[in-house]
Amino acid sequence: MALGRLWAVPLIHIVLLLGLCSADDPFVFFDFKVSYITASPLGVPQQVIAINDKFPGPPINVTTNNNVVVNVHNKLDESLLMHWSGIQQRRSSWQDGVLGTNCPIPSKWNWTYQFQVKDQIGSFFYFPSINFQRAAGGYGGFIINNRPIIPIPFATPDGDIVILIGDWYIRNHTDLRKSLNGGKDLGMPDGVLINGKGPYQYNTTLVPEGIDYETITVHPGKTYRIRVHNVGISTSLNFRIQNHNLLLVESEGSYTVQQNYTSLDIHVGQSYSFLVTMDQNASSDYYIVASARFVNESLWQRVTGVGILHYTNSKGKASGPLPDAPDDEFDKTYSMNQARSIRWNVTASGARPNPQGSFRYGSINVTEVYVLRNTPHVTVNGKRRATLSGISYVNPTTPIRLADQYKLKGVYKLDFPNKPLTGSAKMESSVINGTFRGFMEVIFQNNDTKMHSYHMSGYAFFVVYPGAWTAILVSLDNVGVWNLRTENLDSWYLGQETYVRIVNPEATNKTELPIPDNALFCGKLQHLQTPQDISSATTFGGNRLSFVFTLLMILCALIPSFLC
Ligand SMILES: *[C@@H]1O[C@H](CO)[C@@H](O)[C@H](O)[C@H]1NC(C)=O
Ligand SMILES: *[C@@H]1O[C@H](CO)[C@@H](O)[C@H](O)[C@H]1NC(C)=O
Ligand SMILES: *[C@@H]1O[C@H](CO)[C@@H](O)[C@H](O)[C@H]1NC(C)=O
Ligand SMILES: *[C@@H]1O[C@H](CO)[C@@H](O)[C@H](O)[C@H]1NC(C)=O
Ligand SMILES: *[C@@H]1O[C@H](CO)[C@@H](O)[C@H](O)[C@H]1NC(C)=O
Ligand SMILES: *[C@@H]1O[C@H](CO)[C@@H](O)[C@H](O)[C@H]1NC(C)=O
Ligand SMILES: *[C@@H]1O[C@H](CO)[C@@H](O)[C@H](O)[C@H]1NC(C)=O
Ligand SMILES: *[C@@H]1O[C@H](CO)[C@@H](O)[C@H](O)[C@H]1NC(C)=O
Ligand SMILES: *[C@@H]1O[C@H](CO)[C@@H](O)[C@H](O)[C@H]1NC(C)=O
Ligand SMILES: *[C@@H]1O[C@H](CO)[C@@H](O)[C@H](O)[C@H]1NC(C)=O
Ligand SMILES: *[C@@H]1O[C@H](CO)[C@@H](O)[C@H](O)[C@H]1NC(C)=O
Ligand SMILES: *[C@@H]1O[C@H](CO)[C@@H](O)[C@H](O)[C@H]1NC(C)=O
Repeated sequence: MALGRLWAVPLIHIVLLLGLCSADDPFVFFDFKVSYITASPLGVPQQVIAINDKFPGPPINVTTNNNVVVNVHNKLDESLLMHWSGIQQRRSSWQDGVLGTNCPIPSKWNWTYQFQVKDQIGSFFYFPSINFQRAAGGYGGFIINNRPIIPIPFATPDGDIVILIGDWYIRNHTDLRKSLNGGKDLGMPDGVLINGKGPYQYNTTLVPEGIDYETITVHPGKTYRIRVHNVGISTSLNFRIQNHNLLLVESEGSYTVQQNYTSLDIHVGQSYSFLVTMDQNASSDYYIVASARFVNESLWQRVTGVGILHYTNSKGKASGPLPDAPDDEFDKTYSMNQARSIRWNVTASGARPNPQGSFRYGSINVTEVYVLRNTPHVTVNGKRRATLSGISYVNPTTPIRLADQYKLKGVYKLDFPNKPLTGSAKMESSVINGTFRGFMEVIFQNNDTKMHSYHMSGYAFFVVYPGAWTAILVSLDNVGVWNLRTENLDSWYLGQETYVRIVNPEATNKTELPIPDNALFCGKLQHLQTPQDISSATTFGGNRLSFVFTLLMILCALIPSFLC
């Protein structure tokens, strides 16, 4: 699954970029061609979104403090934004790839993201953030490795494996979108994919013949780091590997207290790293399972992801029933307690020394408190919508961050309420006014019947069980406009999101990077956009690439410390 790095950026561009950032931190370049391909993960051909013709996309695999440059070429028939989920974008919400910060990349255009993965480490993923495209794929892992001088709190694993799990529909994302726009629920998914592939035929009644399934080949006795991400739409999944312990070590960029689990619930948007030791006798292959949680098992058993863990010395195929899921489909206590058992290891160093023990929680002065409450979908202005605190968010056609940059008034309102509104829900572009260097307490109340995981861009993830609440404290130290959303894709699509706007009142260029040179313009700023010459934006491979590569090789030879 190694991603070939294409050195397709002209040299002038590289030199320019080096001028803007710390030359000590290396640049890594990626070219992403985002296009439809036909795949049949559940046995039925359908259009899925691929990156460089791969579904799922290749992992981005970089090191703390690298400057990451991704030239995204939109070969879809609709606009696109790529979001780097969990990447903090310090001082640069410009690169976050959501509608509050970026204009969508029009069909046939390309746009180059550039950001530094400053002080970060761990397992994340990327995905297309608009138009319900994540339901069609377009996602891949995003790994940030430790720098050599930073120790990790476990022995270096013998291998590194990314596993993307998620619920899946045979209907394509445009059809699913139509259902949602028409006020319909999506209904039960058709399956759960593991790395873009359907289930192994463990049962001939439940799984049709001829489905291509994921096989992960391992060596006996070795220990692998397995990074598991739920990239699906709305289904919480229980992840397990037959006869193998999952030693949890990291979640979304923080090391955890190390604990063994036989299975773990992974909610939409969550990422976990496990160390898995291949300590079995390989009398057969073993099942890798991702099964839907909190649902009627007899109805949902065909909606189960099944892959194969294959030892090189395996003596036969996996057979028999799948390893058992937790037997508590209508009781969330076990799952909740399991989630509570996951704790940060505050003594383990992260990307920088002791980042996890930096705050003394008792002495924090909370500057603002927000109670954010959802409900099951409601009807607003005749449309079926999802809400947060009684507001169903509407994305203005001009991104908030751009509107601020150009001092445009009336694009959005800075009036998001501290407490849920009473009365009927409304559709608004309502944004939270965050106090720079303040501490915001957020209490998420899940009044829906489904699980929700909330994500604040540039910050972290928070899981909220139905009928329960979760309180968090956010240090508002990152200037920018940050998306706060449910990861549940249908609820997000229908408006269960807002933004937190953090502005430094002092006029300085130190707390936020300037608007990028290549910023796209849209909405009220459309007149600033020059058309893109799409005929020249198609060079993949071919002569120019090898020319640039040759030049780079020469440059590397001349200046050994430069990128080489
Ligand atoms: C989605 O499927 C519908 C048919 O159900 C088809 O008309 C449409 O072109 C497809 N769209 C994409 C993007 O594949
Ligand atoms: C589009 O890609 C070309 C190279 O293929 C690159 O030179 C150009 O800077 C890219 N445009 C943007 C806006 O990133
Ligand atoms: C936490 O990390 C430290 C430092 O690497 C390590 O020595 C310790 O064993 C870890 N503790 C747990 C409970 O995982
Ligand atoms: C990521 O890169 C590291 C360091 O080069 C390598 O050890 C690891 O196997 C890579 N992981 C994946 C999933 O490609
Ligand atoms: C396959 O699944 C069906 C439906 O749950 C079940 O009745 C049957 O016993 C299973 N077959 C085997 C071989 O386990
Ligand atoms: C996890 O389980 C393995 C056996 O598979 C055991 O050797 C190890 O000590 C356990 N680790 C913890 C932290 O419980
Ligand atoms: C391997 O392990 C399985 C399950 O633990 C056991 O049933 C089987 O007898 C073992 N086979 C050998 C050859 O040891
Ligand atoms: C689960 O679904 C089956 C099949 O439709 C149904 O018979 C059963 O009553 C359901 N169980 C519960 C607890 O709702
Ligand atoms: C909180 O406020 C008190 C009183 O104004 C002040 O003494 C203290 O330093 C503040 N704490 C922090 C962490 O800023
Ligand atoms: C936003 O908050 C700041 C203080 O952090 C305050 O000065 C400003 O008036 C607020 N703006 C609005 C529109 O409420
Ligand atoms: C949602 O709120 C209503 C009214 O307060 C309450 O009756 C209901 O139990 C709540 N449902 C959940 C799932 O929290
Ligand atoms: C910030 O940078 C811009 C462009 O480089 C410059 O015009 C402006 O004067 C700077 N502002 C401050 C406060 O330094």
